[in-house]
Amino acid sequence: MATDKGKGGLDRVLVLEVARVTEVAAIAAARWRGQGQNKAADKAAVDAMRRELGKVNIKGRVVIGEGEMDEAPMLYIGEEVGTGDGPRVDIAVDPLEGTTICAKDMPNALAVIAISEEGGLLNAPDMYMDKIAIGPGYPDGIIDLDKSVPEILKDLAKFKKCPIREITACILDRPRHQELIDAVRKVGGGVRLIPDGDIAGVIWTTDPAQTGIDIYLGSGGAPEGVLAAAALRCIGGQMQGRLKPDAGAEGLKQIERARTMGIADIKKKYSMAEMACDDVIFSATGVTAGSLLDGVHFRGEFAETETVVMRSKTGTVRRIKTTFRDIGTKNTLA
Ligand code: FBP
Repeated sequence: MATDKGKGGLDRVLVLEVARVTEVAAIAAARWRGQGQNKAADKAAVDAMRRELGKVNIKGRVVIGEGEMDEAPMLYIGEEVGTGDGPRVDIAVDPLEGTTICAKDMPNALAVIAISEEGGLLNAPDMYMDKIAIGPGYPDGIIDLDKSVPEILKDLAKFKKCPIREITACILDRPRHQELIDAVRKVGGGVRLIPDGDIAGVIWTTDPAQTGIDIYLGSGGAPEGVLAAAALRCIGGQMQGRLKPDAGAEGLKQIERARTMGIADIKKKYSMAEMACDDVIFSATGVTAGSLLDGVHFRGEFAETETVVMRSKTGTVRRIKTTFRDIGTKNTLA
């Protein structure tokens, strides 16, 4: 295959290849929208993403996927994907981010992938991660997982030259976040609660004028944290993540699992750059309609998708609207 590496690192033709991968996964998941069947929707997205990845000229290794080999038949951690002909890359996938929101046909379910050079993505185990993220334009270090919420909000407001009540934090609507929510509200900040889907939550911070969200706070999946870091690496912004094992025996198992994945210090605070390297391609396609991306539209034999695909090395962000024809007859999409 001819390679045009652009400004170095990953082959830039991969940008379109990865967009195709999330498009196809999104179409497959979208057929299950509103059916109340999380697992079926997820499986459809996984199967489609796996099939499409198999056509891409890479020697890919899944570093963030659907779980361990013994629990996930496809896109498991360590699985080799691609034709085997191209460059060695690491891959993080979330074929259906927001299985419940897809099953309920609520906004912002996505098909998501990130691809980096070998070793470019944190191999995060499937456990919680504390996350904090803001968009571009702020001074370095203005956010930190070890800073108090009042201090962070005060500093953001000071930098934005606005009162704290004009700062809004996006937080997953979970009982475990009640203290955090109270802390934001106590100093006058606003809270946008989301039911699921914290990759979108992090991405929204990059365009506060449009989304009304200035900062992402709280814990969610560590794999989603790495994918969000990959997206933010492309658009710009700041993010930190720190693994958060459960209490008790489950937590000990998670710590051990993290250790076997190369994480010796479970308390380490990861910067965005430590979670996603300088050359990463991120692609997300909307499954359900949302404010980040439109969902899949089926019109007879046509399907239309909207995708955002970006590359950190160049900072290019592309929004792609694609029309697929004959989707009922072409088995790649059936
Ligand atoms: P799924 O797609 O696996 O359902 O994940 C959705 C999600 O909301 C993620 O975006 C988030 O990181 C995680 O779940 C939060 O986990 P929990 O639901 O346990 O709070």
